[in-house]
Amino acid sequence: MNGDLTRESIRPKTPARLAMSTPKRRRGEPSRVMAMLERRASEALGLCRGVLRSPSLSLRLLSTLPFILRGAEFSRRWGSVAREEALRLGWEGQESGFACNPLQSYFESHRKGPGVWKWVHYFELYHRHLSKFVGREVHVLEIGVYSGGSLPMWREYFGPKCQVYGVDIEEACRVYENDWTSISIGDQADRGFWKRFKHQHPRIDVLIDDGGHEAEQQLVTLEEMLPHLRPGGVYLCEDVHGERNRFNAYVHGVAAHLNTCLPKPGDRSKGTACSPTDFQASIHSVHMYPFLSVIEKHDRPVAEFTAPKHGTEWQPFL
Ligand SMILES: C[S@@+](CC[C@H](N)C(=O)[O-])C[C@H]1O[C@@H](n2cnc3c(N)ncnc32)[C@H](O)[C@@H]1O
Repeated sequence: MNGDLTRESIRPKTPARLAMSTPKRRRGEPSRVMAMLERRASEALGLCRGVLRSPSLSLRLLSTLPFILRGAEFSRRWGSVAREEALRLGWEGQESGFACNPLQSYFESHRKGPGVWKWVHYFELYHRHLSKFVGREVHVLEIGVYSGGSLPMWREYFGPKCQVYGVDIEEACRVYENDWTSISIGDQADRGFWKRFKHQHPRIDVLIDDGGHEAEQQLVTLEEMLPHLRPGGVYLCEDVHGERNRFNAYVHGVAAHLNTCLPKPGDRSKGTACSPTDFQASIHSVHMYPFLSVIEKHDRPVAEFTAPKHGTEWQPFL
């Protein structure tokens, strides 16, 4: 799908949104080109600052660029591989089926009442990462309430011990408040808002970011809320569209840190024991799917990574 075809860009605009998104041009107001140039200039400045702040990390990341490029080219050439695979496995002309799950069943049968708007392929991914919470006490935060239909969907899926928190910038979303749903009105790009939110809501196990979908909003939300998520928590950010998506690039940077290998002090096992960094001790994994990024936290901090050898018979070449 075209990177610009986000739900933000295709969804119908309410009068309030129209007023926000198509402001009347007044004399002296910067044009869109100027705004774009300003953004690029501020990004270039940010890059320079980053390089000055962390020169060796910048060099290390730069050395990975040829491989990022190689991977990007490999995935773009996939068409011929896919055709060969389809021929070999007899997939030609077959529809790919989708696995049924309770969330998807809910969505499929939900035809009236408060609206819920999701990409259908997310349901398999929600179920994959969130089923461990079903039936347990779980505190779920969704950023982006819109017409309120996803909030009862989470409650139905996780069960009666589920508490739901909705965040939206639109005051109108308060109407979805009830015994098990609390609504906070604020801008997800505002760190002050998150400070207050964290104070009021000390426990969050699952966070679904389906708000404004702009990279800066997603980044601020992640930087403020990932550390706040409980151990074992799952963080999902929806609608990460486009190869040049800045949030996506950020998540790549985050994921790369998972592979850091710090030799354990005093290790005599020829490099088969590593001390986790603080990040590795807390973050279990980073997953990327079409338009969706998922980060999972460990239930408890990891103390070390080891690779012991078990067995008595070994080839002589290693
Ligand atoms: C795609 S809709 C959410 C859809 C909903 N989660 C669902 O599944 O049906 C996006 C929502 O994000 C809200 N939003 C946009 N910008 C925001 C911001 N900066 N902070 C918080 N919410 C925002 C919009 O008002 C809108 O209600």
